[in-house]
Amino acid sequence: MNGLSIKLAIVPIVTMLCICKAITNLHPVILVPGSGGNQLEARLTTGYKPLNLLCDRWYPLCKDKEGWFRLWFDPSVLLGPFTMCFAQRMMLYYDPDLDDYRNAPGVETRVPEFGSTEPLLYLDPNLKHFTAYMAPLVESLEEIGYVSGENLFGAPYDFRYGLAAEGHPSHVGSKFLQDLKDLIEKASASNGEKPVILLSHSLGGLYVLQLLNRNSPSWLRRFIKHFVALSAPWGGTVQEMLTFASGSSFGVPLVNPLLVRGEQRSSESNLWLMPSPKLFDPGKVLVITPNEAYSAHDIPQFLNDIGFPEGVIPYKSRILPLTEALTAPNVSVTCIIGTGVKTPETLFYGKAGFDEEPEVVYGDGDGTVNLVSLLALESICGADNKSQPLKVIRISGISHTSILEDNVALGEIVGEISSINSHAEVQFA
Ligand SMILES: *[C@@H]1O[C@H](CO)[C@@H](O)[C@H](O)[C@H]1NC(C)=O
Ligand SMILES: *[C@@H]1O[C@H](CO)[C@@H](O)[C@H](O)[C@H]1NC(C)=O
Repeated sequence: MNGLSIKLAIVPIVTMLCICKAITNLHPVILVPGSGGNQLEARLTTGYKPLNLLCDRWYPLCKDKEGWFRLWFDPSVLLGPFTMCFAQRMMLYYDPDLDDYRNAPGVETRVPEFGSTEPLLYLDPNLKHFTAYMAPLVESLEEIGYVSGENLFGAPYDFRYGLAAEGHPSHVGSKFLQDLKDLIEKASASNGEKPVILLSHSLGGLYVLQLLNRNSPSWLRRFIKHFVALSAPWGGTVQEMLTFASGSSFGVPLVNPLLVRGEQRSSESNLWLMPSPKLFDPGKVLVITPNEAYSAHDIPQFLNDIGFPEGVIPYKSRILPLTEALTAPNVSVTCIIGTGVKTPETLFYGKAGFDEEPEVVYGDGDGTVNLVSLLALESICGADNKSQPLKVIRISGISHTSILEDNVALGEIVGEISSINSHAEVQFA
């Protein structure tokens, strides 16, 4: 008998075991995507003032009966003139009277299908091959018995918005945290009262940490089994300073970064991802120009000098105190990160100023997030801390986004979820 026929004989038994396990054993998993990691829909109202004829209300042609269309992601944004319409519609505004952010005038937005994994599988369901996001991860989880809608859920959100320090309103971000809390309770209730595993990517991890920090230890014990954070930028990234200074073409060479720079600067969550002075050393210069040198402690001056003074007040009052209060989640955590990928660490700008792309010196990280930021929880809690169980899995050569599609990385993630499922119920006994 050869190996193949043995495998064939075993398959039905293994499948049966998996099905039993799905019914009796698995802790529900909730996926929380990163920035740009789920679809976002928009509708234009009478208050909308198009930039030009091209951006008028006819565009895009495909809308539903109530006028809703997919704002993110739609491939037409890659074409110059439409990039401008997109940027205008995606733009956020900080309103000093409200002390909060809001949408562009005449633009309503919504996140489709909260609770479902559907809006985070593909950013554009018509272009599955090019825009797959969490689809490979969801397939891998299904292989160990997870079933979307039963014990596997998605928590998409409006990733342009962020959260603010205590005492400052953040209407959209706080609503998301409440929806996520409700989803956790519902997922637990429909799965035999089992506590939930939260599985985030990138920015999603910062939201989850805030949710954990803002709920009582007794609620956490009751509802959270484990928090698995993939590629979380706990302390921001130097890449974000590049985005604010010169714009970022979302990795698409066709897009002129200057066309989207204004929109990217306006995003509250981008401001949240500026390198945190809590983690980046004051002596460590991150951006150098012919006249100035900026560390993570000089972000307000930097925002001013790049021509974005509007960002200074919300950064100082809302973001800085939030990132300085970075605290342990007080639930069991696994951080899974990529390392050994060249990641922007110092930016050198010449006489031409911030409109020109800088010379970049690279350091260690996952290509987007610097290692010091990926490892921030470890540096805050200390390794082997009995009161804060924390495990870090490093995967060499895996980038910020390839962690969601590479087979080795997916194997590590799913292995970790399986192992969490086989741990005993009581953790803090
Ligand atoms: C962490 O949780 C434990 C109970 O699980 C609680 O006694 C402790 O006060 C919590 N720590 C913080 C900082 O909230
Ligand atoms: C352990 O982690 C807690 C946060 O949960 C922190 O307050 C404490 O200082 C840490 N202890 C050590 C020895 O690092």
